Amino acid sequence: MIEALIFILAYLLGSIPFGLIVGKIGYGVDIREHGSGNLGGTNTFRTLGVKAGLIVTISDILKGTLAASLPLLFNSELNPLLVGVFAVIGHTYPIFAKFKGGKAVATSAGLLLFVQPLMVITMIAFFFLVLYLSKYVSLSSMLAGVYGIIYSIFIGEIGLIIVISLLTAFVIYRHRANIKRIIDKTEPKVKWL
Ligand code: G3P
Repeated sequence: MIEALIFILAYLLGSIPFGLIVGKIGYGVDIREHGSGNLGGTNTFRTLGVKAGLIVTISDILKGTLAASLPLLFNSELNPLLVGVFAVIGHTYPIFAKFKGGKAVATSAGLLLFVQPLMVITMIAFFFLVLYLSKYVSLSSMLAGVYGIIYSIFIGEIGLIIVISLLTAFVIYRHRANIKRIIDKTEPKVKWL
């Protein structure tokens, strides 16, 4: 019973649409009507600036971290990776925002942060390296996932390898429109790096 509650709680946590909340309450703007239309940190940066972008990105990361910590908080044997995945599903298909959410990047990073903090720190460094070279946030996000797969193979944790591979495949699937725009050379590049 408690296990089912933990999964539901993780999904509900992930479903909190911080991009929508910060945009509407703080700025009177629905970020889904601007930029890429995505309900995530990148589109918040793009539409509302650095302060709002940071708040949304950090909040979206922490949703995943908090969800992954639920088994510990509830003294349950459930695998934090598995519970965290439910937050990613919530973030991507949020019950509080008509099931149209983000692209799974920040919340995935948050859950991995709980399980493998060192991996996430190096993943973020790799993300910024790719961003510096390409100027594409979307490409950097997808390749950071690939980096995570390689890292997890090196440390040889089978559960982590499976979950990161699935999350990365899902992140790439959620970036279909970005991939098309990169090929068409219409994907926006960051200007500040
Ligand atoms: O985390 C999402 C990012 O990789 C792309 O966002 O708004 O450019 O589609 P966006």
